[in-house]
Amino acid sequence: MFNSKIIGFESYVPQNSITNDELSKLVDTSDEWIYTRTGISKRCLSTKENTSDFAINVAKKLLENNNVSAEDIDIIIVATITPDYLTPSTACIVQGNIGAKNALAFDINVACSGFVYALSVADKFLKSGLYKNAIVIGAETLSKLIDWKDRGTCVLFGDGSGGALLTASKDYNSILSEDLKADGTSFKAITGGKIPNVNPFTEEKEEEDFYLQMNGRDVFNFATKTVPKSVNEILKKANITLDDVKYIVPHQANSRIVEVVAKKLGVSLDKFYLNLQTYGNTSAASIPIALAEMSKNKLLQKGDKIIITGFGGGLTWASMLVQI
Ligand code: COA
Repeated sequence: MFNSKIIGFESYVPQNSITNDELSKLVDTSDEWIYTRTGISKRCLSTKENTSDFAINVAKKLLENNNVSAEDIDIIIVATITPDYLTPSTACIVQGNIGAKNALAFDINVACSGFVYALSVADKFLKSGLYKNAIVIGAETLSKLIDWKDRGTCVLFGDGSGGALLTASKDYNSILSEDLKADGTSFKAITGGKIPNVNPFTEEKEEEDFYLQMNGRDVFNFATKTVPKSVNEILKKANITLDDVKYIVPHQANSRIVEVVAKKLGVSLDKFYLNLQTYGNTSAASIPIALAEMSKNKLLQKGDKIIITGFGGGLTWASMLVQI
């Protein structure tokens, strides 16, 4: 019987960091409005790199810093809603670039829940006993999907990537319980990247709405309702309480969402790890960027139990109890 052992986290973000004040030169907004409503002060935005460039950097760091060779990787999964192309997958570009010639590779599209979903998928592959090592990455160039004239969305998002290296283990289990769900009846709450019908036989041209559109209030209400329930669900499944959990690492969307979630769970805000002030909302990349930062700052020790919880487009949500 095999389980998944997480052996490392890494991240990569583009160098170009843009402050709220800089954005207020583009659209009618202010540092005060953005910070008080979201907790975000700045975000990293790509000037030339694509999602695959971020993900390749993360994959290389995972291999180098954990002394694993590319040929020993069996699975590469990239969670992204901003792939370089619709085909090939970003994961295939990573696989080719790092020389992981024995790996299968594919992307998954689960928006801000993507990294947790991807970890869960990799976990099932590793549990099968047929595969040994997996690279799981969340990577986004959300700046490509943003309408830079829309102050309601352009202030919220950032670019970047983070990931984890997992290995099949007979004596250690990093993934203790999970809750992955979707509610496609509310898909219109967040949409982006609509592909129009343009063939010569279409009856009428569809209105193009390529850029990300979001009903902020609906998303706020959805997140504050589902995340506490989902966290309680994984605690119940593992038969533990929040006292046994060192940190909750939420999708880094909005500090006000996290404040409501903390209140509903009856825990101090200190239990939550937040870095959205620096990176904004990086969708599938936000949780692994936070985990890599925590790991680098020695906040995570072997045996610590933490909760990761993502929520967003789909609508989807996903929580996981992780043992470091
Ligand atoms: N700067 C200044 N004013 C802004 C603004 C900005 N960047 N964006 C919107 N506004 C204005 C609106 O135009 C509106 O003005 P009006 O009252 O004159 O019409 C006013 O601020 C209130 O807008 P509203 O959208 O109702 O604000 P809000 O209090 O709901 O806050 C969000 C907006 C997006 C911060 C909030 O809804 C939210 O956090 N939602 C969750 C979003 C999220 O995290 N999504 C990702 C999940 S994966």
